[in-house]
Order: sequence, then structure tokens, then C-alpha cells
Amino acid sequence: MPKKSRSSTVFVCEVCGEEYIQWQGRCNNCNNWNTLKEFKVAPVVAERGGGYSGETASAPISLAAITGQAESRTLSGFAELDRVLGGGIVAGSVILLGGDPGIGKSTLLLQVVERMGSVSKNQILYISGEESPEQIKLRAERLGATASEVQILAATNIDHITAVVEQLKPALVIVDSIQTMYDPQFPSTPGSIVQVRECAVRIQHLAKRLGVPMVLVGHITKEGTVAGPRTLEHLVDVVLYLEGEPQQQLRILRAVKNRFGDVTETGIFAMEGKGLVEVDNPGSFLLAERVQVPGSVLSAVIEGTRPMLIEVQALTTKSVFGYPRRTASGFDPNRLNLLLAVLERRAHIDLSSHDVFVNIVGGLKVKDPAVDAAVCVALASAFKDKVLAENLCVIGEVGLAGEVRQVQQQERRAKEIKALGYVLPPKEKSLAGMLSKLLAGRS
Ligand code: TYD
Ligand code: MG
Repeated sequence: MPKKSRSSTVFVCEVCGEEYIQWQGRCNNCNNWNTLKEFKVAPVVAERGGGYSGETASAPISLAAITGQAESRTLSGFAELDRVLGGGIVAGSVILLGGDPGIGKSTLLLQVVERMGSVSKNQILYISGEESPEQIKLRAERLGATASEVQILAATNIDHITAVVEQLKPALVIVDSIQTMYDPQFPSTPGSIVQVRECAVRIQHLAKRLGVPMVLVGHITKEGTVAGPRTLEHLVDVVLYLEGEPQQQLRILRAVKNRFGDVTETGIFAMEGKGLVEVDNPGSFLLAERVQVPGSVLSAVIEGTRPMLIEVQALTTKSVFGYPRRTASGFDPNRLNLLLAVLERRAHIDLSSHDVFVNIVGGLKVKDPAVDAAVCVALASAFKDKVLAENLCVIGEVGLAGEVRQVQQQERRAKEIKALGYVLPPKEKSLAGMLSKLLAGRS
């Protein structure tokens, strides 16, 4: 048998980052074809011993004997962001902020930098590989940001960046974006999986070594994940996503991984002329421009740990062609088809010759089954052309038998609905019964 020698070439899957010593047509990890690219690897660097990056050679110690200090956290200046992070930015942590282009990642971070810069004793470093310092300055002026403690660095070479960070020892570093950074040791282009991963590894080591928290901006691929998805998500401590419809104001910040807090919290923001502002009461924000017409009803979804009131709208029109159209925005189209079938068979509301449109107001994407009943009520109200009671709020999951079921955290939703001055319909087990009661006597 030939002696195994350490190969200096690896094949890396461009999609998931899995490594192979030999080329093969299909990646075993993500099952994509023809995604393996060849890379020459530099000799293994001694400091990368494996394990967590603050590792030093040491003997094992008993868990009880470890005297942990509470993590030191810095507030970002945005209560919504701090809540998602679990109470502020942990020293030495690496946070990945993902989101669609133009959703507001750079805007949010520039505002964070400004707010922290106005209270921090240390410098804050904003590294941009996407925009020139002049462009950043223009944006900062638009945001009203003027803090002098903020340093801007336009750079993409990770060696250069490491040197600057080591010298400046800032209170926070922003890297916008990880896809523009490159390590000159590797021949591949910035944004390729190898560059993204190598740069992220170096940034992570730097953060742990200096105890400086770092935020990496990550672009999202067409499939909706940060480029080099798995590898990056494993490397960092926290993964946040900023979501929303670019044309709409509402932005939701979610944690999908957090080593220092739970991932159920969400932060809610609105994009305004002067950047992102925190939204304390998303319900009233979303309902501000509501008009009372047939097909409009309220529901309550759980966003993170908070109940939030939303408006569900439906419209039905006679189909012009034989094949009726079903369009859903912010709601799962398959779920809509299911609800239409239930309406037809269990509640005798036959929309088979009607085009159907359902919209969740505010650009919100709702996956919570608790809006099922509201969608059905909105559809029935639109179809019968009857306006529902103005303060009506409907929650409940609809089953195939036409039953309306209790939902998770029913009590909390009900409490929020009452607190905001809205009312739930009287308890009703069947959808048909609920619809006939709600629409009876309405015009
Ligand atoms: P940006 O932060 O550049 O997005 P990302 O870094 O995620 O790609 O966001 C740019 C968008 O935000 C742009 O379409 C304009 C809008 N915007 C506002 O509406 N108000 C503002 O004050 C700013 C700075 C941007
Ligand atoms: Mg940007």
C-alpha cells in the first residue's frame, strides 16, 4: 500500500464548504453536482490547534473548580438589538449579520457604531470593503451620525485589517462584508468559499485573542443562506438575520444561533428617512393605516416571545379564465389552498370560480398557524362582501375537519388583544359556526 502523504491540495465544495482530498462529481454533504473546486493549501499554521479559539495547552480541570466570571457585555445602544443578543454584545464574540442586499445591514451597523461611539472610551472601527470612506461619510451624515470616536477603514486585505485592529484595540469592529475580504495567502477570489472561511477564521482568532467583539456582515445567496453557509455559521458565536421587504418599512432582526442567549427573541425596527428606528409597539405601527372594508380582519402572531397584532386582507373576484388564480403575499400559498378546500367542503364557501388574493399587511411573512382562522374569516368576509366588526381579532388553527383549534400561547395572545382594546369572537369549535356568527347581520 502506498504511504499516505499529507496532500497540499484540497477540493472544497463551493456551496457548503465541505473538504475532500480527491475530486468527485458530487458533494456528499450537500448533494450538489460539480461544485468541488481545487485549492492549494498553505502548510498548517501552528496556532490553529483546533478546539475553541481561546485554547491554550492545558490539563483538564474539574468543572466545579472553574471559576467563571460573568461575560462582560457592552450595550449596543439599540434595546431591540441588545435583547436579540441576550443582553448586549459579549466581549470577544463574533456576530454574523446576514440579510438580503439593501435591507439595511450597513445602516443598522453604522447606527450602532455611532451610538456606541458616543459613549465608548475606546475607538470603534468600521471596516468597509464595499463603500469608500466618502460614501460612508455621506450616509453617516444622512443618519445624523457624527461621533468622533468612530474610525472608518476601507480595506479588504485581512493582513492589513489584522494589523490595524491589533494596533487600535477598538471596543468594537464591524467588517462589512465578509464576502469582500481576502487573505493573500490563497489564490481564490474574494467571496469564494475558501476566502470567506479563511478570513472568518482569522477574524475569530483575532476577536478571541484581543477580547474585541466583531460583527461580520454576510450576504445572502439566492437560496436564502449566508454564502458559505454551514462553515460560517459554525465559526461564529451568534448568527443574526435582518429580514423584511425592501419596499416596506418593517424590519425584523432574528437570532438563528446564539451562544450567549436564546434564539426566540426578535427585534423589530422600521426603516425611515433617518435610518432604522426601534418599534416598541409593532401592532399599532402595522395597524395605523387600516381601512375598514370587507376582507380585512386582525390576528395575533407570536414574534419571538412577543405577541404582535397583524392585519390579514383578502380579496376575491370572479375568474375571467377557467382556471382560478390564488395569490398569497406573506402567507404560504399551499396553506391557502388547504384553507380554500376546507372553506368549500366544511363551510360551504365555494371559491372554485373565483380568483383569491391574500395579503399580510406590512411585508410580514407569517408562518404561525394561528392566522388560519383569520385568513378564512377574511376570505368569507370578502366573498360575502360584508364588513367585519372593526375591533375583531381572530386566532385559531384550522383543521381539515373544519374545526378551529387552540394555538400555542393562546392566553398570551388573548391578553395582548384585550390590552390593545380588541376583542376575540365568542369561543366556537367549528369554522362554519364561527363564520356564520361573525357575518350574521353585517352589511
Ligand atoms: P443598506 O444599509 O445599504 O443595506 P445593506 O447594507 O443591507 O445592503 O440599506 C440601504 C437601503 O436603506 C437603501 O435602499 C435606502 C434605505 N435607507 C433608508 O430608507 N433610510 C436611510 O436613512 C438609509 C441610510 C437608507
Ligand atoms: Mg451594505
